[in-house]
Amino acid sequence: MKVAIVKESAPNERRVALVPEAIGKLTGAGHEVLIQSGAGDGASIPDADFTAAGAKVVAENALYAEADVVLRVQKPTPEEVGKLRSGQVVIGLLQPLIDPQNAQALAAAGVTAISLDTLPRTLSRAQSMDALSSQANVGGYKAVVMAADAYGRYFPLLTTAAGTAKPANVLILGVGVAGLQAIATAKRLGALVKAYDVRSVTKEQAESLGAQFLKLESVADATGEGGYARELTDDEKAAQQAELSKHISSMDVVITTAQVPGRRPPLLVTADTVRAMKSGSVIVDMAASALGGNVELSVPDDTTVTENGVTIIAPTNLPATMPGGASGFYARNISALLTHFIKEGEMTFDFEDEITVGTVITHDG
Ligand code: NAI
Repeated sequence: MKVAIVKESAPNERRVALVPEAIGKLTGAGHEVLIQSGAGDGASIPDADFTAAGAKVVAENALYAEADVVLRVQKPTPEEVGKLRSGQVVIGLLQPLIDPQNAQALAAAGVTAISLDTLPRTLSRAQSMDALSSQANVGGYKAVVMAADAYGRYFPLLTTAAGTAKPANVLILGVGVAGLQAIATAKRLGALVKAYDVRSVTKEQAESLGAQFLKLESVADATGEGGYARELTDDEKAAQQAELSKHISSMDVVITTAQVPGRRPPLLVTADTVRAMKSGSVIVDMAASALGGNVELSVPDDTTVTENGVTIIAPTNLPATMPGGASGFYARNISALLTHFIKEGEMTFDFEDEITVGTVITHDG
């Protein structure tokens, strides 16, 4: 088979679907790997590194004409869907639940579309394919690094001849994959870390990383289906915001990561709460999107400094800001998923298999 890696076209997307280290396994199994010229530029991986690993560098038109399977990070644009032909396979973070029209266009084009973000993540044999987790992990790390950069003081306790610096008080809201990595990173930097989530099982996980878990009186456990959180009722939301506000006002840094599948991210930090924070405090809203984020005043992909001196950073694609590290993990995930479908050198679809059912979003129209 010919497996092709495209150059991502989305604005500010610097990741690439496969890295040179992942090519040998495919060529070793008898497949040919094609790479669109410049595909690794954003991640500082020159074409020559892909060639040295055994890939063939081609122009975009030749890539779409020759490929059996196209690997990418983000979903194809409508123009790129037009370049795919019937019977071709495309694999990426295709977001069919967020952009069903795109999935419909792929179906109409007769393309077999395989989406990493609809993988059944709790299956243990799917863990090596879990790109949502690997990329959330990158995001959780980078959010803390960005917060530390924007914060004008130290994260660790520092005793020097010129005096003592107090450690930063950091609160992580949402203890999923990103939140756990954010706790671990803030701890490594020496901060005093607190964490909160509506799923009660996260208490033990947060504490095992050295965070103090906040237990709110106002909201009971809100574990939903598949290990995710359920959406809170309006009364619960208001009570949660009010109770959180008291904790947030004494924090130096707040990182928010809370998501509810298929819903607007919960609003956890209101404008009034931000106004009650100290000047110099920093918030990173990892849930920011066009739908809204966890922080009322956040502006997606922008940094806001409020009148009372609180910096709010709302990055929408943190993994793309660490393209080398994020692409390395993503390449392992997409290779594992691709390999899952290859039987005797061909893409094979067994619709009795849970991974196939979860990830193949269009096939045979
Ligand atoms: P996510 O990105 O959907 O949400 C992040 C966090 O926000 C979650 O922990 C959620 O409980 C929390 N949250 C939602 N509403 C909230 C609110 N109002 N206040 C505070 N926190 C709120 O979650 P993510 O990180 O994608 O995964 C979460 C869960 O998915 C895991 O705990 C696990 O159950 C499951 N998972 C399982 C895996 C496995 O078994 N291998 C791998 C990855 C995830």
